Amino acid sequence: MPKQYVIGIDIGTSGCKTLIIDGNGQVVARALEEYPLSTPQPGWSEQDPEHWWQAVKSTLKQSVGTFDHVADIKAIGLSGQMHGLVALDKDCRVLRPAILWNDQRTGPQCQEIHDLAGGVEGLLKLTNNRMLPGYTGGKIIWLRQNEPQLYEKLNIILNPKDYIRYRLTGEFATEVSDASGTGLFNVRQRQWSRELLDLLEIPMDWLPRCYESPEISGQLSGEVAADLGLPAGLAVAGGGGDSVIQTTGTGLVEPGILGTTIGTAGIVAMALDKCYDNPDGRLQVFCNNTPHRWHTMGVTLAAGGSLRWIRDMLGGAENEVARWLGEDVYELFSREAAAIEPGSDGLLFMPYLIGERCPYPDPNARGGFIGLTLRHDRRSILRSVLEGVIFSMRDVARLITDMGLPITQIRTSGGGALSDLWRQIHADVFNSEVITVSGSAEGGAYGAALVAGTGVGMWSSVEEAVQVVRAETHNMPIAENFEIYNKLFPIYRELYDALKVSFDKIADIYA
Ligand code: XUL
Repeated sequence: MPKQYVIGIDIGTSGCKTLIIDGNGQVVARALEEYPLSTPQPGWSEQDPEHWWQAVKSTLKQSVGTFDHVADIKAIGLSGQMHGLVALDKDCRVLRPAILWNDQRTGPQCQEIHDLAGGVEGLLKLTNNRMLPGYTGGKIIWLRQNEPQLYEKLNIILNPKDYIRYRLTGEFATEVSDASGTGLFNVRQRQWSRELLDLLEIPMDWLPRCYESPEISGQLSGEVAADLGLPAGLAVAGGGGDSVIQTTGTGLVEPGILGTTIGTAGIVAMALDKCYDNPDGRLQVFCNNTPHRWHTMGVTLAAGGSLRWIRDMLGGAENEVARWLGEDVYELFSREAAAIEPGSDGLLFMPYLIGERCPYPDPNARGGFIGLTLRHDRRSILRSVLEGVIFSMRDVARLITDMGLPITQIRTSGGGALSDLWRQIHADVFNSEVITVSGSAEGGAYGAALVAGTGVGMWSSVEEAVQVVRAETHNMPIAENFEIYNKLFPIYRELYDALKVSFDKIADIYA
């Protein structure tokens, strides 16, 4: 039988990644293209969906152009930044730039939605999630209140990757993981929440049909296929929201394995075999890409972002040396931080540099170093940043273990997972094995390819598809390091509560 291949496309925030994998999970072609993001007002974050589409076409052309077995490509899977609002009129034209997941304009609208639903508790009954300012629901209400002339023309609401599906196939469709991130979805029943939509007076027929992630949602149109050099009628599977499907791509289908991503933000996630209640709405509980499974995650906002800030602020010398030696500046940082004993001589770093989402949903939270003495130097500061980020991730993971879900292994990914020291700190703070796996550096596109391949029978289930994932690095916890971190962690946890009042006062002055 000829080899079979599948395409994964990820519409990220900074760019689009397209790759082709074979039935063994090997990446055989890939292409990347960036696009701009605009902030027309403070706290706003927008993108032109046309830029996504041009990047999708260009990366598809590049990957297919260097590939000899185009006729053996069986499907396309889509992954994309979650929670974005793409608004279309009745002629399927884009009404305004898409409002993205990291846009902060909808605080008042989210409050109104909670009030209408009977508070956080009322909303949790309907959707099992809070309506966070990034989510799609608040943006629809914002449009109604602030751009009524556009709202009048509104006819179809899509998430970013689903707009690309429309351009590829002409179909309006989404799938359960991205639908969960709109805040308008009953994740327990895996369908739109009619009750919430009625309360908000959002017509149900504005929302696309919702599939399970591996299901085939449409076929590549003849025109697009001819333009891109792909087979017409190629199956396009449901796919997934990036934060969910990138964990699927690292093999996270069973409860017990904790998936962590140290990117700009830090994501802490676990697959669930049933829909657990989301206590207090502190976590995000979404439908998983594996049918009959769910996904929970919490996001600490400044993980790799904290280290980048330190690099830009203190790393002048390292940046120069790295440039001269042709080395990675983060490698130099790791070597310096490794010279300091675990615990950084009692220096604790709070990574709330851009407020926090989880475990403290608090835009006023601020970063800080606590415990500074004359003994501390630049190296201690570096190490305490690495440790503080992992403390914050343990603080998020605590919400998951409190659901009665013990951690059996940690699979980490993202830029931060490239550092052996950071992975060791991760293992030591959590007292758990930490591994990295093949494909994890590819992000959402890889998971999207596995899920789409499942949809066309290359694998019999998502559980089988993820067997292609192989462990690449292992870090085991060191008992004496865990002992130190386990003493420091409760102190780290006290700091937010102790300083909350001060954070609010600072925010009052410097709003
Ligand atoms: C998930 C989230 C981000 C976006 C952008 O809740 O807000 O991860 O999906 O990648």
